[in-house]
Parts: sequence; C-alpha cells; structure tokens
Amino acid sequence: MSSKEKITFFCKECGSESLKWFGKCPACGAWNTCAESTVVTGKSKNVQKNTFISAETAMPQRVGEIKGGEEQRIVLPYGELNRVLGGGLVLGSLTLVGGEPGIGKSTLLLQMALNLKGKKVLYISGEESLSQIKMRADRIGATNEDCYILAETDTSEIARHFKEVSPDVVVIDSIQTVESPLVDATAGSITQIRESAAELNKIAKASHVPFFLIGHITKDGSIAGPKVLEHIVDTVLQFEGDRHYGFRILRTIKNRFGSSSELGIFEMSAEGLREVTNPSEVLLSQRDEEVSGIAIAATMEGQRPMLIETQALISTAAYGTPQRSCTGFDTRRMNMLLAVLEKRAGFRLASKDAFLNIAGGMRVDDPAIDMAVVAAILSSNADIPIPSNVTFAAEIGLSGEVRAVTRIEARIAEADKLGFKRIFVSKYNVKGLNAKRFNIEVVPVATVYDLATELFG
Ligand code: TYD
Ligand code: MG
Repeated sequence: MSSKEKITFFCKECGSESLKWFGKCPACGAWNTCAESTVVTGKSKNVQKNTFISAETAMPQRVGEIKGGEEQRIVLPYGELNRVLGGGLVLGSLTLVGGEPGIGKSTLLLQMALNLKGKKVLYISGEESLSQIKMRADRIGATNEDCYILAETDTSEIARHFKEVSPDVVVIDSIQTVESPLVDATAGSITQIRESAAELNKIAKASHVPFFLIGHITKDGSIAGPKVLEHIVDTVLQFEGDRHYGFRILRTIKNRFGSSSELGIFEMSAEGLREVTNPSEVLLSQRDEEVSGIAIAATMEGQRPMLIETQALISTAAYGTPQRSCTGFDTRRMNMLLAVLEKRAGFRLASKDAFLNIAGGMRVDDPAIDMAVVAAILSSNADIPIPSNVTFAAEIGLSGEVRAVTRIEARIAEADKLGFKRIFVSKYNVKGLNAKRFNIEVVPVATVYDLATELFG
C-alpha cells in the first residue's frame, strides 16, 4: 500500500479534529484556534504494524475471559511522583509531563532516572547535548549505572536504540524536538507531534515499557502540541509553580490509571528537586505576632488535606476605581465574595482596594477556601487579627450562606493533627459528624453574617 497524505484541522485549544477549516471551534467554541495538520494513512500504519504490533490482540473476547485485574506498576523513587501517577508508573503507559520552559521538567525526570535503582532507564534528549545533561546530573549528585543518555530526535532511530538498549523506562525530552521520517513537517508542528507521539505510543504498548514525554507549554497554554497530545497519552501531569518561590507543584490533569485530581509538591534547591511530604507545615508562614488579614483554609488537593494561608489587604482606594488583584485565587471569585459581604452582611467594601494572596505561590481551586478568604478580608478590613490556631473550611454562596464541602472529616482531622484549636465549617456539614473524636472545636456557621459575629463580635 502506498502512503497517502490527508489534510485535517485541529483546535489548538481543545485538540478536537475536523475535516474542514473553522473560524470557531465546533467542539469548544474557541475562536481562531484552527491549525492545519497532515495525517499519513496507508504506508506508515503498515510499517508500524510490521515492526511493533503482534497479531494476538485481534479477536473479540468475552469480558469475563479477558485476563485483567491490577495494572502492573513500577514504583518510582519519589512518593510524590507515585502519588500523582495513581500509585506508580503503569507498564506500557504514556505520560506527558507538561510545563513552562525552565520550570524543572528535565530536572525532575533526570533525577527520577538517576534514582531508579535496579531499572534500566533510557533518557533521550533532543534539547541538550550529552555534556549539558552530564553537568545537570553532577549537580543533582546521584548516579545510576543503568541510566543511558541519548541525544536523538528521529523516531526510527529512537526505535532502533530502544531495541538495542531494551530499557525498563524511557524519557523523551521533549516531544517538540522529536521528528518522524514518515511525515514531511518540521519538528514541533502539530503534524509531527501527533505522528511521533503515536509512534512512541505503539512502541510503549507493544513492549509494555512506560514512556515519559516532556512537553513545553507557555503560560496561556498557547502551544498546540500538549493539548493535541492529551488525547493520545494515558496520563497528563502538569508541572507548575511560581519562579520566585522554590515550590513546584506536579498536578494530575488526566489519568487513565488513577484519580485525576492528585497533586505532588517539590522544592527546587541547588541540588535539584526535593520532595515536600508535609505541605501544610511548609505552606503556613512562621509568624510570632498575630497580624490582621491572615486566615488559614483547610483545603483538599485530590485525596490530600492541606492547610493553606490566605492573606488579604483591604485599604481605601486612592483613585476612583478600586483595585482588585489576586495571586493564586480567581479574581472574579474574590469580587463575588466582596459583593456578597457588601450586600448580605452590610460591609462597605465597594470603594476599597482589595488584594489577595495565597501563600507559597500555590493556586487553589477548592471552593472550601471561600470562608478563609472572607475571614481574611474581614480581618484586614477591621484590622483585627484572627488567632493563628483557627482555620476555616466552607464554600460561600451568593446569598451569603455558608455551604457544606466534601471530605469534611479529613479536613478537620488534618487541622486537629497540626494543633489547631478551632475550625469553622458550614452548619450543614456537622450533621452526623462525630466531633467528639477530635480535640479541635468544630464551630458550625450558617451565614457570612454569623461568621463575622463569631470572629469579631
Ligand atoms: P529544567 O529542568 O532545565 O527546566 P525545563 O526542563 O522545565 O525547561 O530546570 C531549569 C531551572 O532549574 C533552571 O533555571 C535551573 C534550576 N535548577 C536548580 O535550581 N537546581 C538544580 O539542581 C537544577 C538541576 C536546576
Ligand atoms: Mg528541559
């Protein structure tokens, strides 16, 4: 069969495919996100069939007859990495590690490769020379006899070296530099990224060897590659963090083999990345005297409870239009909470500047942080500190009601473990709750007005 090239179109935002050009994506509704791509049919499929895929899987089987059960996993040297993968690296899986340039993706995976004792790792780099990688390995300070480094970008060469070395784990740094000789497009284009990832996926699935693919994304997620890739790979991890803080957060975005809301925390040091196993203790700032505008939220990130500090500063606006800005929290959500306080509890905040900051460069999506945000705002506004042994876990609704949140017991238990004395929760969360088993006092509140009264009288 001869090779045929077919033109298709992709949305750079959501990765959906279309046969026609579009101005507005039919799947996600984004404008001007259409990108052209060539798909090879015929020959390339044949070539890969001969090389990698055996014929055994072709017959339909009864569900009951399929050998199944637990996926086999390789346990990686970092607990935080195992956690985001859902308990280790699944054999034959394809994991995309995305993140902005310079965030530490190469460091993380090289460090993993150097510390994975007893397994053969093939680290393929199209980004850096062997000596650059060696320099980084020296900086990290770990060695592994069975870690092979290869500077290569051609997928057919990668496949050849893969057979030769026969590794247990492969790292590709990065997918944007890899090229398949089967398609005529430059490296980093959507066509190349899709084709190379599909080829690597076939190698992974046929050999049961797991692959890590590193992919760059810019702040606004504008490079199409990783979005398009999300459909092909099994797991997507995102490495993020604020460059001014040492913390790096590894977040699960998609996981065919586990929960997709897990999170791992690392800290970048002079000798590479260090795991942060007890995040609450690091994310709470050490302070001797109590200052106003600080409230601690008992949040959940995936399966893990985490206490996070929120800081607010409310001041009289110097100019006509008040300034509103947030770091690590949605500004629109803060504006909503300010409006709720104004309308439902009578606080005059409309003409005030409001700034909100989540400590440690964290970004929080958990709605249970709302009450801590409100408490921090009220504390700053009144200039009365909240005692440092108090914490909050509830969502705030538009009518000023304090709403119940998920996993309340886990949140209370974590706050209790860290020595907090009081936790404010929604009154709808305490039904059936056995508060006696905790040392911490559980304070149920119904509205933001009640909260303000409880806190400041
Ligand atoms: P890198 O892994 O190259 O990022 P990426 O692959 O995501 O582009 O990491 C780059 C940054 O990390 C760089 O600014 C230097 C810093 N770094 C350290 O601070 N300590 C270290 O031990 C290493 C290896 C890197
Ligand atoms: Mg890199």
